[in-house]
Amino acid sequence: MPSLSRQRIEEDRARDRARVEAQRREADRSVLEHPGPLLSVVVPTFNERDNVRPLVGELSETLADVEWEVIFVDDDSPDGTADAVRDLARERHRVRCIHRIGRRGLASACVEGMLGSSAPYLVVMDGDLQHDPKIIPQMLAVLERHDAELVIGSRYISGASVDDSTGLRRAISRFATWVGHAVVPENLKDPLSGFFALRRDLFDDVVRDLSCIGFKILLDMVTTAHHAVEFREIPFGFRTRRAGESKLDGLVAWEYAMLLADKLVGRYVPVRFLSFALIGAAGVGVHLALLTLAYRVAQLEFVTSQAIAVTLTMVFNYAVNNMLTYRDRRRRGLKWLTGLLSFIAVCAVGAVANVGVAAYLFNHHANWLLAAVAGVVVGAVWNYTVTSVYTWGRRSAA
Ligand code: GDD
Ligand code: MN
Repeated sequence: MPSLSRQRIEEDRARDRARVEAQRREADRSVLEHPGPLLSVVVPTFNERDNVRPLVGELSETLADVEWEVIFVDDDSPDGTADAVRDLARERHRVRCIHRIGRRGLASACVEGMLGSSAPYLVVMDGDLQHDPKIIPQMLAVLERHDAELVIGSRYISGASVDDSTGLRRAISRFATWVGHAVVPENLKDPLSGFFALRRDLFDDVVRDLSCIGFKILLDMVTTAHHAVEFREIPFGFRTRRAGESKLDGLVAWEYAMLLADKLVGRYVPVRFLSFALIGAAGVGVHLALLTLAYRVAQLEFVTSQAIAVTLTMVFNYAVNNMLTYRDRRRRGLKWLTGLLSFIAVCAVGAVANVGVAAYLFNHHANWLLAAVAGVVVGAVWNYTVTSVYTWGRRSAA
């Protein structure tokens, strides 16, 4: 019957169409299901807007044969770097942006970028074009061959060059490197480099124990690892910065000292407490100087002089701790003032505890010096612990 065969033909056609449709869907899915990147390049940025595009351009050229992505980690730069990154990310799927608000810090930015990646290989480099991406394929090859788990772009081995620095900057960098050898192996020639590649297992091994203080994330990782890290150095030409300016300032030296202290004794004492105690000790000198000025020079009443000295010393302690101990959570503007008030309130209670403990011990026949020292220690621990939450705690600062 003609109608029956027509019906069969229709059915066959429908089946074919469904098969083709299914095949097409399958093909579409395989196109959509790209494998994730093999390599994530993590770039910390602060005010690098004009360097974003040129850097991504250089990366695309160099990494043409690799499945890669770049993750910019921007600390809410006032120049709109994060917007520039997102604009570019809309054009190119390899570009990603992590935008951090209320926090600062190169080392912690690098760590967050690496945490945001799933790739088996990671590169960390600066966003100001001083690091030449041309050596990245070489770095990756070393990692893939399992020749090392960490590859450092080095400024201080043969074949490298430094196009940037003045004699003074170079001398400082050499000195800092020399000091760094107190905690990293001597044969690692550039432990302060900001340009390196690593296998993800190494990162996973160290990430929970990193200090994350300041600029020196490479040194932090090498000293934190629970085994002797197998590393390689590859020379590169450290270039001159094109746009924007360096964020390294005098306080970076202090942060570096804190990082080294943390690596040496951080297991026993929190390094922020060390910094707090050191500043407190300097405060004793400031107090005596102010007291001398008020009482001996200005000839004020003793009690008035002492009150002025105590108050101003608290302001000194607060200001310096805000600048050094809590540099990454620094309070500014109006928050500086409210922070000062909470600091003074906490320290007033600390002073009462100090005197209370000392008086108790003294009345129970402890040596007077021992009683005084115990009072100071209790007061300092109280001040440190409570201000770390109320004055510089994550929620109150920012
Ligand atoms: N997210 C974030 N947060 N990025 C930052 C911050 C910050 O607080 N501070 C600086 N950066 C970014 C900069 O935008 C730049 O991309 C990179 O970190 C390096 O900062 P520079 O200010 O250019 O530092 P430098 O050139 O003086 O020193 C660099 O090179 C040295 C040699 O390799 C740093 O990488 C040093 O650690 C390194 O020793
Ligand atoms: Mn730089």
